[in-house]
Amino acid sequence: MAPIIGHRGCAGHAPENTLAGIRDAARVGCTWVEADATLLADETVVLFHDDTLDRCCCDASGFIREQNWKDAITLDAGYWFDDGRFVGEHIPLLRDAVSCCQALDLGFNIELKTHRGEGEHLGARVAELLKESGKYLVSSYDVGALKAFHKQKPACPLGIIYDDLPQDWRVLADELEAVSIHLWSKHITQEVIDQVKATGRELYVFTVNEKKQAEKLWALGVDGLFSDLPDQLR
Ligand code: G3P
Ligand code: MG
Repeated sequence: MAPIIGHRGCAGHAPENTLAGIRDAARVGCTWVEADATLLADETVVLFHDDTLDRCCCDASGFIREQNWKDAITLDAGYWFDDGRFVGEHIPLLRDAVSCCQALDLGFNIELKTHRGEGEHLGARVAELLKESGKYLVSSYDVGALKAFHKQKPACPLGIIYDDLPQDWRVLADELEAVSIHLWSKHITQEVIDQVKATGRELYVFTVNEKKQAEKLWALGVDGLFSDLPDQLR
């Protein structure tokens, strides 16, 4: 991907997982952006991070997985953020986010975000949706989601996400032909970086918003950082 990747779009500057956020990532100079793809009750795939609506859609509550698209489209996903500049921003379809990235020439890291055992279903749906070839990398914590996606789209590059790298991480990485490992910044050590890099894979770290921390991680050999404030890391 790139040394700096917009996280959840550009979550420090615009409401996370919205098209406004993807546009902001491009505006501040990102060439790659990450966002969370999740499944609704009617099989629609949208961008959304949490299990429940409450934090990012102040006018609603309940589980995102129980929403149908006809209701989800009416929710305001921008009101909560900042000073009201994003009122009216809505939860986007993954399909529209893909088009937005293509139009802006952004690479797109689609994280398959699952909450209640829907991994295989989500992986298969996203594979169906990515019809045209493009600059994608699909990642997830969810092994079932990754396997289902890989079965249908073996040529699309995959990344595996961990909070903490398990001892036997290479087994799954080899099986999925994963090109990258994505790790939580709290558990990064030189040993972990060297282990991943020794297999020829790239290593990306989330979420880094401070320049000093970014410089340290790059110096240790990390390939890229997910950031809510990508412009602050330059
Ligand atoms: O994909 C990297 C990062 O986004 C994983 O954590 O919780 O922000 O989706 P989260
Ligand atoms: Mg994510």
